[in-house]
Amino acid sequence: MIGNEAERTVAENYRRFALHEAHGRSPLYEQLALGVADDPELVAFLEDRPASKRQPNLLLATVRYLAGLPSDRAALRDVVLGRRDEVAATMRARRTQTNEPARCATLLPALAQIDGPLALLEVGASAGLCLLPDRYGYHYRRADGGDVHIAGSPLLTCEVRGPAPLPSRAPKVVWRAGIDLEPLDVADPDDLRWLACLLWPGEEGRAERLDAAAAVARADPPRVVRGDLVDDLHALADQAPPDATLVVFHSAVLAYVPTARRAAFAEAVGELGAVWLANEAAAVLADLPHPPPADLPAPPPGPTPSLLVRDGHRPSAWVDGHGTWLQWLDG
Ligand SMILES: C[S@@+](CC[C@H](N)C(=O)[O-])C[C@H]1O[C@@H](n2cnc3c(N)ncnc32)[C@H](O)[C@@H]1O
Repeated sequence: MIGNEAERTVAENYRRFALHEAHGRSPLYEQLALGVADDPELVAFLEDRPASKRQPNLLLATVRYLAGLPSDRAALRDVVLGRRDEVAATMRARRTQTNEPARCATLLPALAQIDGPLALLEVGASAGLCLLPDRYGYHYRRADGGDVHIAGSPLLTCEVRGPAPLPSRAPKVVWRAGIDLEPLDVADPDDLRWLACLLWPGEEGRAERLDAAAAVARADPPRVVRGDLVDDLHALADQAPPDATLVVFHSAVLAYVPTARRAAFAEAVGELGAVWLANEAAAVLADLPHPPPADLPAPPPGPTPSLLVRDGHRPSAWVDGHGTWLQWLDG
């Protein structure tokens, strides 16, 4: 649920997803989502699902999981209406849990500004692939040619605009743990297949990056506990070593948290005295006690980006939701 998604109709949400998220990234998903928005039977099917189980990502990944990638609107329709019980059951059982390791490239400059060593606690961690920023490689590309390379695999490539404080190495991480309502296991082939089904066709390199990051994770899996980001945050944070700087972070999570719980989460983080990094859509951050200011420079044109915010302050950067670019905002 992005921002006030709950107030929009199903058709409006699918049209918004098509035009503001898939457009420019995935022409097929743009067409499929518009096809849903225009089809009263598909809309009625989705209206029968609980409000938290109607997202385009969830429907499209479910169809892919059950029947492979639909080639067009008619193929999508055939699967949803022809196998409606299976589609409904999978949507009920699964969640939108896209785990994009490339988001580490947009988090790294902010992480590197924090005095270490670091204890990382990620809420909404999915399979925990964003808990491994110190184990991946980076190629930050600047238009002026001042590129920065950090060796490792997978190599996360990120276009940089503005005066981003790019580190020359990843920070030292001495402890890491995640919370998720439904942790995924990178050693479980079915969970990995679900993660792959959540990728969008047309975005090159994501499948290879997922496989490579999952291999890194399997070599030394990050711990992700089952729990809720408000109710279970303090118990997990209490396990962090006291001689490390605790960093609570999240990316693309609060959109799936009911609006009233977003403020409760902000309060729970505030009580910890930890560093807090949020990588979320501006519309979602607007529900927190310190919403993004109205005078921010406009983001570059294209799919709706996210904001990177430390401790509820003025945002540090606009970032691509899938980690491919960042635009640093302050000096
Ligand atoms: C879109 S995924 C993002 C995963 C990861 N942060 C990333 O950026 O790749 C959102 C994750 O948040 C989790 N989630 C949603 N609501 C949650 C809650 N109340 N408590 C803990 N996790 C939650 C979901 O299960 C899902 O794995």
